[in-house]
Amino acid sequence: MKHVISPLDLSVEELDHILALAEKMYQNPERYAHLCEGKKLATLFYEPSTRTRLSFEAAMMNLGGKVLGFSSADSSSAAKGESVADTIRVISSYADICAMRHPKEGAPLVASQYASIPVINAGDGGHNHPTQTLTDLLTIKSLKSSLDNLTIGLCGDLKFGRTVHSLIRAMIRYKNVKFVMISPDELRIPDYLRTEVLDKQGISYKEVNVLEPVMPELDLLYMTRVQRERFFNEEDYIRLKDSFILDAKKMKYAREDMLVLHPLPRVNEIATEVDHDPRAVYFKQAQFGVYARMALITNLLGLDGDLSC
Ligand code: NCD
Repeated sequence: MKHVISPLDLSVEELDHILALAEKMYQNPERYAHLCEGKKLATLFYEPSTRTRLSFEAAMMNLGGKVLGFSSADSSSAAKGESVADTIRVISSYADICAMRHPKEGAPLVASQYASIPVINAGDGGHNHPTQTLTDLLTIKSLKSSLDNLTIGLCGDLKFGRTVHSLIRAMIRYKNVKFVMISPDELRIPDYLRTEVLDKQGISYKEVNVLEPVMPELDLLYMTRVQRERFFNEEDYIRLKDSFILDAKKMKYAREDMLVLHPLPRVNEIATEVDHDPRAVYFKQAQFGVYARMALITNLLGLDGDLSC
């Protein structure tokens, strides 16, 4: 039995296999419509979510399976003081697989240690978000045709943004990937990522705090929201929240084939006028999220053995 808690829980080969399956599912969803009949997915969400929870649920339904779960800690026994370990022991007898989002870093890892079903981390605090990364990789691979030789701009809240942390860890395994990190000084990537991951593996990156001059270098610009819920005080959030706003004027500096990604939800960091630019692919990215999760569920349930993908 396999769990996906960090993006590194999937080898490059497994990832390539899941992405190839997701692409097939995207092209021909009917073929997979009964694959998970009789199976149940539990979505245990202790923190708010729209896309991640609903895309997990849509994914399981598209595969013919059923879903159960809760969408806030208040409506679960966590409000009575139940531990994640006890909850997952019980859920293991109700469902075949589970996706868990939790505000505490490491909670899905703890759950996986007590579970007898596969546990998927659907976001743990400011730490990791492997299925968003799968979504991002599927989007990049489908629209850029390769995950190699890319210069990726990461912009916004690089300190608390878990999608960025997971994306960096996943992308450094591909050839000749470079990062340009664009953030205010206070929201730079955590030290452990800089020293333990980027420096240690000799990855090329630079950190800047102005967007326009680096725009022409980028193949991808990954915008992120300033993560209000992880700030210790509201004043800092207000000061930093509008540090970067991508608008049509700034898009003029970008290459014709640069893609703009965003895990969503968007607050202010991308002006709505950019939505009409063909390079803005964040809504498409959200759509890919369903297929990425369909492929992952299928793989973790061991149902992809006889699918030639
Ligand atoms: C992201 C998250 O939850 O980390 N959203 C998502 O899963 N699509 C990004 C965010 O909340 O800013």
